[in-house]
Amino acid sequence: MSRVAESTIGRSREVELLLAALDGGAHVVLEGPPGTGKSTLLRTVARSRDVPFHFVEGNAELTPARLVGHFDPARVLSDGYVQEIFVDGPLAAALRDGGLLYVEELNRVPEETLNVLITVMSEAELHVPRLGRIDAAAGFRLVAAMNPFDAVGTARISAAVYDRTCRIAMGYQTAGDEVQIVSARAPEVPPVWRAGVVELTRRTRSHPDVRVGSSVRGAIDLVRVGTSLAVARGCPVDDWQVGLDAAFVSLSGRIRLSESAGRTPEDIVRQLYEDVFGPRPADSDDPARDGDSPGEAVARRQGRAAVR
Ligand SMILES: Nc1ncnc2c1ncn2[C@@H]1O[C@H](COP(=O)(O)OP(=O)(O)O)[C@@H](O)[C@H]1O
Ligand SMILES: [Mg+2]
Repeated sequence: MSRVAESTIGRSREVELLLAALDGGAHVVLEGPPGTGKSTLLRTVARSRDVPFHFVEGNAELTPARLVGHFDPARVLSDGYVQEIFVDGPLAAALRDGGLLYVEELNRVPEETLNVLITVMSEAELHVPRLGRIDAAAGFRLVAAMNPFDAVGTARISAAVYDRTCRIAMGYQTAGDEVQIVSARAPEVPPVWRAGVVELTRRTRSHPDVRVGSSVRGAIDLVRVGTSLAVARGCPVDDWQVGLDAAFVSLSGRIRLSESAGRTPEDIVRQLYEDVFGPRPADSDDPARDGDSPGEAVARRQGRAAVR
């Protein structure tokens, strides 16, 4: 288990709980905002258990036929509805081989597809018209990920699914864990700057005008984009303007503002960026600030906040 816990940074408790739930025969819902490591956790656990793993993206196009499987239409004409021409979908495959079926974004799955999953969890078998019964081999488990902030149909699935699954809540990682995750997923950069990037990303989650902030994915992208931009501009990655531009690109689309905010995402990213990295240094090129008096420039430089 320790090997598993190591590859999912800071999630040893969740790894332990998920393994216990699966070993105990339970199906599991992992519930948390995007980027909290749900897929990473499940992938590592699946690898450690050495069981077949079937991955399904939950969305409006996930019909029962896509999930379960279908008869090859071309061969139905010549051969009829015979077992041999049934093409297993991920659910049929997971049932037969006693594998893990991982459904991402369960709350986006259409009602009729959800009903198939609910039935399988209740009965441990599946009835397919014209094919017959597929029994769940020992080991079959459903693990579903859900995003509580996703308004699309979250309420509708609640009772029946929750009653048949165990639930592991996944909150945002700690700052220290996020720094480690960014180190693992993005190029090497000065540690102080990396810590600032993580701090900036985390602050998008508690800004009063922001409904949903950025996950650690925003911090990973910021470091990646900043690194490339610094090369293109021939300056260090912790250059003030490079960081700000990389922050706009990496964070502005990832934050959801509250209805009443009356501000742009760029405005909020810039405010938070200045809170963390300080105001624009006086020696930095900024056409908009050319009118500053020397006194103002010095005041700005002295007001530069330390990166926590
Ligand atoms: N605990 C973790 N250990 C290592 N990498 C992580 C961890 N949590 C998140 N990540 C990284 O952050 C990104 C988002 O994680 P992911 O598992 O896809 O989140 P989710 O499925 O909850 O949206 C991925 O790039 C992943 O590699
Ligand atoms: Mg995921």
